[in-house]
Amino acid sequence: MATLLLHLTEVEEASWAEAFAEALPGHRVVMRGDAYDAAEVDYIFVWKPRPEAFDGLTGLKAVLSFGAGVDALLRHPRLPNDVPVVRFIDADLTQRMSDYVVSQVTMHQRLFTRFKRDQEARRWVQLYPTAAWETTVGIMGIGVLGQDAARHLKVFGYPLRSWSRSPKAIEGVESFVGLDEFDAFLAGTDILVNLLPLTPETAGILNYETFGKLRRDRLEGGPVLINAARGGHQKDADIARALKDGTLGVASLDVFEVEPLPPESPLWALDNCYITPHVAAASSQKTGVAYFSKAIRDYEAGLPLPNIVDVERGY
Ligand code: NDP
Ligand code: OXD
Repeated sequence: MATLLLHLTEVEEASWAEAFAEALPGHRVVMRGDAYDAAEVDYIFVWKPRPEAFDGLTGLKAVLSFGAGVDALLRHPRLPNDVPVVRFIDADLTQRMSDYVVSQVTMHQRLFTRFKRDQEARRWVQLYPTAAWETTVGIMGIGVLGQDAARHLKVFGYPLRSWSRSPKAIEGVESFVGLDEFDAFLAGTDILVNLLPLTPETAGILNYETFGKLRRDRLEGGPVLINAARGGHQKDADIARALKDGTLGVASLDVFEVEPLPPESPLWALDNCYITPHVAAASSQKTGVAYFSKAIRDYEAGLPLPNIVDVERGY
Protein backbone atom coordinates (compact mmCIF):
# COMPACT_ATOMS: atom_id res chain seq x y z
CA MET A 1 0.00 0.00 0.00
CA ALA A 2 1.53 3.36 -1.10
CA THR A 3 2.02 6.02 1.58
CA LEU A 4 1.44 9.78 1.28
CA LEU A 5 3.05 11.92 4.00
CA LEU A 6 1.73 15.42 4.68
CA HIS A 7 4.27 18.00 5.82
CA LEU A 8 2.47 21.34 5.87
CA THR A 9 3.72 24.26 7.93
CA GLU A 10 1.29 27.08 8.76
CA VAL A 11 -1.59 25.09 7.23
CA GLU A 12 -4.29 23.09 9.00
CA GLU A 13 -2.91 19.65 8.10
CA ALA A 14 -5.56 17.34 9.55
CA SER A 15 -8.40 18.34 7.25
CA TRP A 16 -6.14 17.95 4.20
CA ALA A 17 -5.16 14.48 5.44
CA GLU A 18 -8.80 13.52 5.84
CA ALA A 19 -9.66 14.76 2.34
CA PHE A 20 -6.68 12.92 0.82
CA ALA A 21 -7.63 9.70 2.62
CA GLU A 22 -11.11 9.96 1.11
CA ALA A 23 -9.80 10.74 -2.39
CA LEU A 24 -7.14 8.00 -2.35
CA PRO A 25 -8.71 4.73 -1.18
CA GLY A 26 -6.12 1.98 -0.96
CA HIS A 27 -3.42 4.49 0.12
CA ARG A 28 -2.08 5.28 3.54
CA VAL A 29 -2.17 8.99 4.40
CA VAL A 30 -0.01 10.05 7.36
CA MET A 31 0.94 13.27 9.13
CA ARG A 32 4.18 14.12 10.93
CA GLY A 33 2.89 13.15 14.38
CA ASP A 34 1.68 9.70 13.23
CA ALA A 35 3.61 6.45 13.60
CA TYR A 36 4.97 5.41 10.19
CA ASP A 37 8.12 4.03 8.64
CA ALA A 38 9.89 6.89 6.80
CA ALA A 39 11.42 4.43 4.33
CA GLU A 40 7.92 3.42 3.21
CA VAL A 41 6.79 6.94 2.26
CA ASP A 42 6.15 7.16 -1.49
CA TYR A 43 4.97 10.78 -1.78
CA ILE A 44 5.40 13.86 0.38
CA PHE A 45 2.91 16.73 0.11
CA VAL A 46 4.80 19.70 1.43
CA TRP A 47 4.68 23.42 2.23
CA LYS A 48 7.52 25.36 3.86
CA PRO A 49 9.48 22.21 4.82
CA ARG A 50 11.21 22.03 8.18
CA PRO A 51 14.89 20.96 8.30
CA GLU A 52 14.03 17.30 8.96
CA ALA A 53 11.31 17.10 6.27
CA PHE A 54 13.05 14.64 3.96
CA ASP A 55 15.07 12.66 6.52
CA GLY A 56 14.79 8.92 6.05
CA LEU A 57 12.49 9.14 3.00
CA THR A 58 14.58 6.69 1.02
CA GLY A 59 11.74 5.32 -1.10
CA LEU A 60 10.32 8.69 -2.20
CA LYS A 61 8.82 8.80 -5.72
CA ALA A 62 7.60 12.41 -5.87
CA VAL A 63 7.63 15.66 -3.91
CA LEU A 64 4.25 17.38 -4.25
CA SER A 65 4.29 21.14 -3.66
CA PHE A 66 1.25 22.58 -1.92
CA GLY A 67 2.05 25.97 -3.50
CA ALA A 68 2.53 27.24 -7.03
CA GLY A 69 5.85 28.78 -5.96
CA VAL A 70 8.60 26.30 -5.10
CA ASP A 71 11.39 28.63 -3.97
CA ALA A 72 11.35 27.58 -0.29
CA LEU A 73 11.26 23.94 -1.31
CA LEU A 74 14.15 24.22 -3.75
CA ARG A 75 16.24 26.07 -1.16
CA HIS A 76 15.90 23.15 1.26
CA PRO A 77 19.43 21.74 1.73
CA ARG A 78 18.24 18.14 2.04
CA LEU A 79 15.70 18.06 -0.80
CA PRO A 80 16.50 14.78 -2.60
CA ASN A 81 18.01 15.65 -5.98
CA ASP A 82 16.81 12.53 -7.81
CA VAL A 83 13.09 12.85 -7.02
CA PRO A 84 10.72 14.88 -9.24
CA VAL A 85 9.05 17.94 -7.73
CA VAL A 86 5.47 18.54 -8.88
CA ARG A 87 4.08 22.04 -8.42
CA PHE A 88 0.47 23.13 -8.10
CA ILE A 89 -1.09 24.61 -11.23
CA ASP A 90 -4.75 25.19 -10.72
CA ALA A 91 -7.54 27.19 -12.38
CA ASP A 92 -8.99 28.24 -9.03
CA LEU A 93 -5.68 29.58 -7.69
CA THR A 94 -5.01 31.31 -11.00
CA GLN A 95 -8.42 32.98 -10.98
CA ARG A 96 -7.84 34.21 -7.43
CA MET A 97 -4.53 35.76 -8.47
CA SER A 98 -6.12 37.45 -11.48
CA ASP A 99 -8.84 38.84 -9.17
CA TYR A 100 -6.15 40.35 -6.99
CA VAL A 101 -4.18 41.81 -9.88
CA VAL A 102 -7.22 43.28 -11.65
CA SER A 103 -8.56 44.80 -8.43
CA GLN A 104 -5.26 46.52 -7.64
CA VAL A 105 -4.61 47.71 -11.20
CA THR A 106 -8.08 49.23 -11.63
CA MET A 107 -8.00 50.78 -8.14
CA HIS A 108 -4.75 52.59 -8.89
CA GLN A 109 -5.54 53.54 -12.49
CA ARG A 110 -8.80 55.11 -11.26
CA LEU A 111 -6.85 56.98 -8.54
CA PHE A 112 -9.10 55.69 -5.76
CA THR A 113 -6.30 56.11 -3.27
CA ARG A 114 -5.99 59.80 -4.14
CA PHE A 115 -9.78 60.28 -3.96
CA LYS A 116 -9.86 58.57 -0.57
CA ARG A 117 -7.38 61.13 0.71
CA ASP A 118 -9.51 63.94 -0.76
CA GLN A 119 -12.55 62.43 0.94
CA GLU A 120 -10.78 62.33 4.29
CA ALA A 121 -9.93 66.03 3.84
CA ARG A 122 -13.49 66.83 2.56
CA ARG A 123 -11.83 68.21 -0.58
CA TRP A 124 -13.65 68.26 -3.95
CA VAL A 125 -11.08 68.09 -6.78
CA GLN A 126 -12.23 66.94 -10.21
CA LEU A 127 -9.08 65.16 -11.26
CA TYR A 128 -9.86 62.88 -14.19
CA PRO A 129 -7.95 59.57 -14.13
CA THR A 130 -6.05 58.51 -17.23
CA ALA A 131 -8.09 56.10 -19.31
CA ALA A 132 -7.24 52.40 -19.26
CA TRP A 133 -6.00 52.66 -22.86
CA GLU A 134 -3.51 55.36 -21.75
CA THR A 135 -2.16 53.29 -18.83
CA THR A 136 0.39 50.59 -19.63
CA VAL A 137 0.60 47.58 -17.35
CA GLY A 138 3.96 45.79 -17.38
CA ILE A 139 3.86 42.21 -16.12
CA MET A 140 7.11 40.68 -14.88
CA GLY A 141 6.79 36.91 -15.39
CA ILE A 142 4.30 35.85 -18.01
CA GLY A 143 3.85 32.21 -17.06
CA VAL A 144 0.66 30.57 -15.82
CA LEU A 145 -0.35 33.48 -13.56
CA GLY A 146 1.00 36.33 -15.68
CA GLN A 147 -0.79 35.10 -18.80
CA ASP A 148 -4.10 34.78 -17.03
CA ALA A 149 -3.75 38.25 -15.48
CA ALA A 150 -2.97 39.63 -18.95
CA ARG A 151 -6.05 37.91 -20.38
CA HIS A 152 -8.25 39.59 -17.75
CA LEU A 153 -6.59 43.01 -18.03
CA LYS A 154 -6.91 42.98 -21.82
CA VAL A 155 -10.70 43.11 -21.48
CA PHE A 156 -10.38 46.54 -19.81
CA GLY A 157 -8.27 47.91 -22.67
CA TYR A 158 -4.92 48.37 -20.90
CA PRO A 159 -1.89 48.32 -23.20
CA LEU A 160 0.12 45.35 -21.90
CA ARG A 161 3.77 44.38 -21.93
CA SER A 162 5.54 41.42 -20.42
CA TRP A 163 9.05 40.58 -19.28
CA SER A 164 10.30 36.99 -19.33
CA ARG A 165 13.36 34.86 -20.07
CA SER A 166 12.12 33.65 -23.45
CA PRO A 167 10.17 35.57 -26.13
CA LYS A 168 6.39 35.32 -26.08
CA ALA A 169 3.83 35.76 -28.85
CA ILE A 170 0.67 36.67 -26.94
CA GLU A 171 -1.84 38.80 -28.79
CA GLY A 172 -2.09 42.27 -27.29
CA VAL A 173 1.02 41.84 -25.11
CA GLU A 174 4.36 43.34 -26.14
CA SER A 175 7.12 40.92 -25.19
CA PHE A 176 10.43 42.03 -23.60
CA VAL A 177 13.10 39.47 -22.87
CA GLY A 178 15.99 39.22 -20.47
CA LEU A 179 18.15 41.83 -18.78
CA ASP A 180 19.04 43.50 -22.10
CA GLU A 181 15.43 44.57 -22.54
CA PHE A 182 14.56 45.19 -18.89
CA ASP A 183 15.11 48.95 -18.98
CA ALA A 184 13.05 49.37 -22.16
CA PHE A 185 10.28 47.31 -20.54
CA LEU A 186 10.29 49.56 -17.46
CA ALA A 187 10.52 52.81 -19.44
CA GLY A 188 7.04 52.29 -20.94
CA THR A 189 5.39 50.84 -17.82
CA ASP A 190 3.00 52.83 -15.61
CA ILE A 191 1.79 49.97 -13.42
CA LEU A 192 4.36 47.26 -12.68
CA VAL A 193 2.95 43.86 -11.70
CA ASN A 194 5.36 41.23 -10.39
CA LEU A 195 4.48 37.57 -10.99
CA LEU A 196 7.99 36.15 -11.27
CA PRO A 197 9.22 33.04 -9.46
CA LEU A 198 11.87 33.73 -6.83
CA THR A 199 15.25 32.54 -8.11
CA PRO A 200 18.81 33.79 -7.63
CA GLU A 201 18.33 35.89 -10.81
CA THR A 202 15.10 37.56 -9.67
CA ALA A 203 15.89 38.09 -5.98
CA GLY A 204 15.85 41.78 -5.03
CA ILE A 205 14.80 42.90 -8.51
CA LEU A 206 12.17 45.28 -7.11
CA ASN A 207 14.62 47.88 -5.85
CA TYR A 208 15.02 51.67 -5.90
CA GLU A 209 16.98 51.64 -9.16
CA THR A 210 14.24 49.62 -10.88
CA PHE A 211 11.51 51.97 -9.63
CA GLY A 212 13.45 54.98 -10.96
CA LYS A 213 13.25 53.54 -14.48
CA LEU A 214 9.45 53.35 -14.66
CA ARG A 215 7.48 55.85 -16.76
CA ARG A 216 6.77 58.90 -14.64
CA ASP A 217 4.65 61.27 -16.70
CA ARG A 218 1.43 59.35 -17.04
CA LEU A 219 -0.17 58.53 -13.70
CA GLU A 220 -1.00 61.27 -11.21
CA GLY A 221 1.31 60.77 -8.23
CA GLY A 222 3.77 58.49 -10.01
CA PRO A 223 4.15 54.89 -11.16
CA VAL A 224 2.58 51.97 -9.33
CA LEU A 225 4.11 48.74 -8.00
CA ILE A 226 2.06 45.59 -7.40
CA ASN A 227 3.96 42.62 -5.96
CA ALA A 228 1.99 39.39 -5.60
CA ALA A 229 4.88 36.96 -6.09
CA ARG A 230 7.48 36.73 -3.32
CA GLY A 231 8.88 39.07 -0.69
CA GLY A 232 12.39 38.04 -1.73
CA HIS A 233 11.86 39.93 -4.99
CA GLN A 234 11.65 43.24 -3.20
CA LYS A 235 13.70 45.48 -0.97
CA ASP A 236 11.16 46.68 1.59
CA ALA A 237 13.37 49.65 2.57
CA ASP A 238 13.67 50.76 -1.07
CA ILE A 239 9.89 50.62 -1.48
CA ALA A 240 9.38 52.73 1.65
CA ARG A 241 11.94 55.27 0.38
CA ALA A 242 10.39 55.37 -3.11
CA LEU A 243 6.87 55.79 -1.72
CA LYS A 244 8.05 58.65 0.48
CA ASP A 245 10.01 60.58 -2.17
CA GLY A 246 7.55 60.06 -5.05
CA THR A 247 9.68 57.65 -7.10
CA LEU A 248 6.64 55.39 -6.66
CA GLY A 249 3.16 56.85 -6.40
CA VAL A 250 1.62 53.88 -4.66
CA ALA A 251 2.28 50.19 -4.01
CA SER A 252 0.13 47.13 -3.39
CA LEU A 253 2.13 44.45 -1.62
CA ASP A 254 0.93 40.95 -0.82
CA VAL A 255 4.38 39.63 0.11
CA PHE A 256 7.32 40.87 2.19
CA GLU A 257 10.98 40.17 2.86
CA VAL A 258 9.97 38.93 6.32
CA GLU A 259 6.52 37.40 6.86
CA PRO A 260 4.56 38.14 8.94
CA LEU A 261 5.54 41.76 8.23
CA PRO A 262 7.12 42.95 11.53
CA PRO A 263 5.18 45.65 13.43
CA GLU A 264 8.18 48.00 13.17
CA SER A 265 8.18 47.98 9.34
CA PRO A 266 7.78 51.54 7.99
CA LEU A 267 5.49 50.17 5.27
CA TRP A 268 2.57 49.81 7.71
CA ALA A 269 2.34 53.55 8.26
CA LEU A 270 2.51 54.73 4.64
CA ASP A 271 -0.92 55.70 3.35
CA ASN A 272 0.20 55.03 -0.24
CA CYS A 273 1.13 51.42 0.61
CA TYR A 274 -1.63 48.80 0.37
CA ILE A 275 -0.77 45.74 2.42
CA THR A 276 -2.35 42.29 2.29
CA PRO A 277 -0.94 39.36 4.32
CA HIS A 278 0.13 36.94 1.54
CA VAL A 279 -3.45 36.08 0.59
CA ALA A 280 -3.52 36.98 -3.11
CA ALA A 281 -4.12 33.39 -4.20
CA ALA A 282 -4.53 30.48 -1.82
CA SER A 283 -4.40 26.77 -2.66
CA SER A 284 -7.91 25.45 -2.18
CA GLN A 285 -8.31 22.12 -0.42
CA LYS A 286 -10.98 20.92 -2.82
CA THR A 287 -9.02 21.52 -6.02
CA GLY A 288 -5.65 20.74 -4.39
CA VAL A 289 -6.71 17.31 -3.22
CA ALA A 290 -8.33 16.58 -6.60
CA TYR A 291 -5.19 17.66 -8.50
CA PHE A 292 -2.64 15.73 -6.43
CA SER A 293 -4.81 12.62 -6.00
CA LYS A 294 -5.19 12.46 -9.77
CA ALA A 295 -1.44 12.96 -10.18
CA ILE A 296 -0.78 10.00 -7.85
CA ARG A 297 -3.39 7.77 -9.45
CA ASP A 298 -2.16 8.60 -12.98
CA TYR A 299 1.43 8.02 -11.97
CA GLU A 300 0.56 4.63 -10.52
CA ALA A 301 -1.25 3.81 -13.77
CA GLY A 302 1.97 4.48 -15.67
CA LEU A 303 1.30 8.08 -16.80
CA PRO A 304 3.86 10.87 -16.31
CA LEU A 305 3.65 13.24 -13.35
CA PRO A 306 2.28 16.71 -14.29
CA ASN A 307 4.05 20.09 -14.04
CA ILE A 308 7.45 18.86 -12.93
CA VAL A 309 9.68 21.71 -11.78
CA ASP A 310 12.94 22.33 -13.62
CA VAL A 311 15.14 22.35 -10.53
CA GLU A 312 18.19 23.71 -12.38
CA ARG A 313 16.20 26.68 -13.69
CA GLY A 314 14.58 27.20 -10.28
CA TYR A 315 10.91 27.27 -11.35
P1 NDP B 1 5.51 30.22 -14.02
O1 NDP B 1 6.70 29.35 -13.78
O2 NDP B 1 4.36 29.67 -14.80
O3 NDP B 1 6.01 31.54 -14.79
C1 NDP B 1 7.18 32.19 -14.46
C2 NDP B 1 7.45 33.33 -15.44
O4 NDP B 1 8.56 34.09 -14.97
C3 NDP B 1 7.82 32.86 -16.84
O5 NDP B 1 7.25 33.71 -17.81
C4 NDP B 1 9.33 32.98 -16.86
O6 NDP B 1 9.91 33.19 -18.14
C5 NDP B 1 9.53 34.21 -16.01
N1 NDP B 1 10.89 34.26 -15.45
C6 NDP B 1 11.50 33.37 -14.62
N2 NDP B 1 12.76 33.76 -14.36
C7 NDP B 1 12.94 34.92 -15.04
C8 NDP B 1 14.06 35.80 -15.18
N3 NDP B 1 15.23 35.56 -14.58
N4 NDP B 1 13.90 36.88 -15.97
C9 NDP B 1 12.74 37.13 -16.61
N5 NDP B 1 11.65 36.33 -16.52
C10 NDP B 1 11.75 35.23 -15.74
O7 NDP B 1 5.04 30.75 -12.60
P2 NDP B 1 3.54 31.10 -12.12
O8 NDP B 1 2.99 32.10 -13.03
O9 NDP B 1 2.78 29.86 -11.89
O10 NDP B 1 3.84 31.72 -10.66
C11 NDP B 1 4.67 32.84 -10.46
C12 NDP B 1 4.94 33.05 -8.98
O11 NDP B 1 3.81 33.57 -8.31
C13 NDP B 1 5.25 31.77 -8.18
O12 NDP B 1 6.57 31.36 -8.37
C14 NDP B 1 4.98 32.21 -6.76
O13 NDP B 1 6.17 32.69 -6.17
C15 NDP B 1 3.99 33.37 -6.91
N6 NDP B 1 2.71 33.06 -6.28
C16 NDP B 1 2.25 33.89 -5.28
C17 NDP B 1 1.03 33.64 -4.66
C18 NDP B 1 0.49 34.56 -3.62
O14 NDP B 1 -0.52 34.23 -2.98
N7 NDP B 1 1.07 35.72 -3.39
C19 NDP B 1 0.21 32.49 -5.06
C20 NDP B 1 0.77 31.70 -6.12
C21 NDP B 1 1.98 31.98 -6.69
P3 NDP B 1 9.82 32.09 -19.31
O15 NDP B 1 8.36 32.06 -19.70
O16 NDP B 1 10.68 32.65 -20.38
O17 NDP B 1 10.29 30.80 -18.70
C1 OXD C 1 1.95 29.84 -3.64
C2 OXD C 1 1.60 30.81 -2.60
O1 OXD C 1 3.10 29.82 -4.10
O2 OXD C 1 0.48 30.72 -2.04
O3 OXD C 1 1.08 29.06 -4.05
O4 OXD C 1 2.38 31.73 -2.32
